[in-house]
Amino acid sequence: METVNWSEPRIIQLPKIYDPRGNLTFVQDADQIPFEIARVYWTYDVPAGEFRGGHSHREAEELVVATGGSFNVNLYDGVEWVTYTLNRPYVGLYIPSGYWRTLDNFASGSVCLVMTSTLYSEEDYVRDFDEFCSLSAERRGRCNG
Ligand code: TYD
Repeated sequence: METVNWSEPRIIQLPKIYDPRGNLTFVQDADQIPFEIARVYWTYDVPAGEFRGGHSHREAEELVVATGGSFNVNLYDGVEWVTYTLNRPYVGLYIPSGYWRTLDNFASGSVCLVMTSTLYSEEDYVRDFDEFCSLSAERRGRCNG
């Protein structure tokens, strides 16, 4: 079996139960993701041209799913930006702690569902980019800013 490197972001193909009555997808923590789900939240009604995010988390790990529509998740580890386009309700993006993220390019009617490993705590957020860069340099040896 493949050894998964959970210290990096990763696209996860979720189970898809095909059904003529409508398809079904589920997440069952231990089978698919490396954390227990403590909280689920979702964003919706995002106006055209708007972006979300603009922070990183000290501890929280997340799985992001476009349960409707499509949008981009832009991740920065202090060295390079990588953009993931999410547009399938059976595909998740795993985001480890310590990644700066922005979400943009929301198609009208999109729903961004996030499963996360911690309860909501403002202390877990790093909302200042310079602080993120310092933390990232400690973690990864450098931050390009
Ligand atoms: P935030 O995480 O900054 O939104 P996004 O990253 O999607 O742009 O959260 C926006 C606001 O909602 C902020 O005031 C905190 C609040 N909030 C909660 O109260 N509980 C939650 O679980 C989340 C995710 C946010």
